[in-house]
Amino acid sequence: MSDNNIKPIRPEPVVPDSDPVPVTKKSDASSIQSTIIDGGYAVIEDQYPTGLKVLAGLKKRIFDRNTGRDFHGYRAQRKAYHFASNRLLLPVRNNEIALPKSPKIGWLKELYPDESDFYLSFPQVQGLNSSWQWYHKGITFPVLDQPVYPYYGTYFPTRFDHLILFDKWLTKYQGRKSTAMDIGTGCGVLAFQMAVHGFEQVYASDINPNAVISVLENVRSMGVSERVTVKMGDLFEPWHQKADLVVFNPPWLPAEEETTLLDKAIYFEAGLYERFFDQAQNHLAEGGKLVILYSNLAQTAGFHNDHPMDLELQNHERFRKIRVIKRKVKQGSKKTRRRRNRKQEYVELWELEKNHHNPVKSG
Ligand SMILES: C[S@@+](CC[C@H](N)C(=O)[O-])C[C@H]1O[C@@H](n2cnc3c(N)ncnc32)[C@H](O)[C@@H]1O
Repeated sequence: MSDNNIKPIRPEPVVPDSDPVPVTKKSDASSIQSTIIDGGYAVIEDQYPTGLKVLAGLKKRIFDRNTGRDFHGYRAQRKAYHFASNRLLLPVRNNEIALPKSPKIGWLKELYPDESDFYLSFPQVQGLNSSWQWYHKGITFPVLDQPVYPYYGTYFPTRFDHLILFDKWLTKYQGRKSTAMDIGTGCGVLAFQMAVHGFEQVYASDINPNAVISVLENVRSMGVSERVTVKMGDLFEPWHQKADLVVFNPPWLPAEEETTLLDKAIYFEAGLYERFFDQAQNHLAEGGKLVILYSNLAQTAGFHNDHPMDLELQNHERFRKIRVIKRKVKQGSKKTRRRRNRKQEYVELWELEKNHHNPVKSG
């Protein structure tokens, strides 16, 4: 697929299988909540804030029950809320939410040129709205001079510890700076860091088409389109080149259910790291370095997976560890701290190189 033809993913219009119950601020809140909890649909008919009120009531009704005290109970409640809230609909007409007091969301024009009259769910609209704000405002990273404007559905970091760690590492890097690769580029921040640090050619790729569109837009606004090339594809699939530096900030949490393309920024499916390392050995130039950014988030969040880099180094001989540097994560709000079990969270930068005693497998 040529990059110009990349079609972004978008929240798909909801086609209810039964007539949605009309909702206004005069409707009986409890009966509307029951309708959507039980799998029916409801549509807001008077004004946008009515929907916000229904959602607030729904949240209270689902989360205030005692079942949420343990991890599984909380997950069940989140699932119930997700199910019901996605049955509360908003009408979209002529690329706008067709209700007074609605936010103006440019994505409705950009992502739905072929649709003029349809329903989106309230959470879908909230996601589009918040993404539109970020796209407009841009996000300023402490390691770049210019803001990045993430396209809808593109992962961008909101905590910066791993970027700072990588920046420090890049400052000390003494190797060749001819070619670099950023696998799973998201909004492109690591690719831009490498361009800023003087890499002549940076190849960035992602499995998510929206990330590719995002980076294509931002290379232009940053004035680095000559030096940063972006393509869509799985891991190293778009590239035949070898690089002096390959960086990967992978999803950090193991997937427990089937993942959507957007989830793949956060949750990895079994075998992802294994495939990454297998391919990486064919894409490092002589003396090239592999940098992987990781964190102990999986451990602090209660997952019990093995450390992917330890597994690689224990089970294979294709890479050698040069160093691991760590940085404590600045703690968020008290609420986040409590949820995360008060364990110290840190990010890690793993620097590896090819193990020369190990002959590279072909293919
Ligand atoms: C944690 S985000 C990191 C994004 C960005 N590099 C950063 O540091 O902010 C992981 C990214 O990897 C991408 N990704 C996940 N699985 C992938 C795969 N198999 N091939 C290519 N990219 C993938 C996701 O779409 C997401 O953009």
